[in-house]
Amino acid sequence: MHGKLYEYFESDHRRIEGLLNRATEKSGEFEMKAYGEFRAGLLRHIGLEERILFPAAQKVKGGEPFPSLPKLRLDHGALTALMVPPPTHAILAAIRAILAAHDALEESPDGPYDVCETLAGKDVDVLLEKVRNAPAVPVLPHRSEPFVLDATRRALARAGYNFEDYENVSSGIKEKLSPTNHTAKTKSRK
Ligand SMILES: [Fe+2]
Ligand SMILES: [Fe+2]
Repeated sequence: MHGKLYEYFESDHRRIEGLLNRATEKSGEFEMKAYGEFRAGLLRHIGLEERILFPAAQKVKGGEPFPSLPKLRLDHGALTALMVPPPTHAILAAIRAILAAHDALEESPDGPYDVCETLAGKDVDVLLEKVRNAPAVPVLPHRSEPFVLDATRRALARAGYNFEDYENVSSGIKEKLSPTNHTAKTKSRK
């Protein structure tokens, strides 16, 4: 049985997945309001882990990084980079694949959530309070310049992923929302 810190992060994973599913439930389209909520949720979640949880887990280990820390950090870099350009089916395929493995690693017995649960009960409560009270992170508008996608490809490559692998998964579905459609859809749902 897991503790409350683990449960907080695990249920945040499921909430974020739900937002992503809602954003993409209509075949061939992105629901941009839900995608915006997904983006804000994922960026806040990553911020909580990087600023609060991972340092706490490292402290538990006497200052040594826990085994999955380098991989989890590289994944965070790739996921954050994937939040910058407007969504395409290739970007969505990459997000889904990276998140599925990443979340499973964090939820594994040696992952940072269980490591933090070994803290004394009082310390877990303090950590959870910090996490719950952390504010939303600012989310900047999408950028669609070519250098942005190049930077995203490089962030994925650093984490061991090849963006081209995801560009071939969307056959039969319209590959991209044009910037015009993207803007129109976002505005129409306000
Ligand atoms: Fe994470
Ligand atoms: Fe997480």
